[in-house]
Amino acid sequence: METIDWENLGFGYSKADFNIRCWYRNGKWGELEVSESENVTLHIGATTFHYGQEAFEGLKAFRGKDGKIRVFRMEENAKRMQRSSQGIMMAEVPTPLFTDAVKKVVKLNEAFVPPFESGASLYIRPLLIGTGHQIGVNPADEYLFLVLVMPVGPYFKEGFKPTDLVIYREYDRAAPLGTGKIKVGGNYAASLVAGQRAHHEGFSAVLYLDAREKKYIDECGPANFFAIKGNSYVTPKSGSILPSITNMSLRQLAADMGMKIEERQIPVEELSEFDEVGACGTAAVISPIKRVFDADKNLEYTYGTEPGKVSVQLYEKLRGIQYGLEPDPYNWTTIIE
Ligand code: PLP
Ligand code: COI
Repeated sequence: METIDWENLGFGYSKADFNIRCWYRNGKWGELEVSESENVTLHIGATTFHYGQEAFEGLKAFRGKDGKIRVFRMEENAKRMQRSSQGIMMAEVPTPLFTDAVKKVVKLNEAFVPPFESGASLYIRPLLIGTGHQIGVNPADEYLFLVLVMPVGPYFKEGFKPTDLVIYREYDRAAPLGTGKIKVGGNYAASLVAGQRAHHEGFSAVLYLDAREKKYIDECGPANFFAIKGNSYVTPKSGSILPSITNMSLRQLAADMGMKIEERQIPVEELSEFDEVGACGTAAVISPIKRVFDADKNLEYTYGTEPGKVSVQLYEKLRGIQYGLEPDPYNWTTIIE
């Protein structure tokens, strides 16, 4: 294995030693298979190629100060992948199969879990694709569940330093009653044009508004939106955003800190009333926001150039649990033995 520069990792693909595969054929799941290959061979008529039968997940494993490796809330990712399967008619991966695959792939690739001091982590990417062929628009009868891993650093290059978002009203990432609430590849394809434009114009991500009325905040590219207003943790309630496991965890931690949790529609103008604003997700962790630029109205909302007090508290609490530095009262982590 080449030596890895753990401190300077970005968020991107690199090859680990092993990935895990499991095929669904004849109405049932097979055994977990260990592979060293980066390739899969598929039928040219596979539904993943033609009709987008594809869903994925993202979760992380962390090496603690005590040397132990902890995976964060993997059962929630299993449940979400099942909801994605229901949404685009794929075979569901049962929770025990999902968690066994995650545990196995992390254990096999232990050497790729970054050291505690680096602040990096092992990103785990479960993937489910329709491999059976269909040229009529129908669900496949065969599926492949695959789990790959790679060591990663922060998703936004700023890490925990505040970053900038942009609002454009001419793009939607998901329809109001569409697939925004599940984690299917098509949502990410639909976000590429706006995302690339945002990057070229110097922003980290797009802050999407609701597709129906363009009145309310939806989410920030590949992460949920949250804001701090006085003693409240405010986050959008919307049928077209991905229910983030990080956001769910932060709501619990904020409530435990005595804060009021407001999960509701957030009118875009309310951006002027927030004390702190952030993006949250597995890849993004907590990314504080220092500026939101409304490109259509040529208006900007600015926040601190340093992370706000509550964002710092939430970040430290979440990271403390993930790295085993703090008690884990809700059993969110699984130690990989
Ligand atoms: N929103 C979108 C669109 C995402 O892709 C992600 C990443 O998974 C999130 C939010 C954050 O979700 P989670 O905290 O479960 O990673
Ligand atoms: C994640 O946070 O796990 C994501 O999936 C976000 C992105 C890399 C798609």
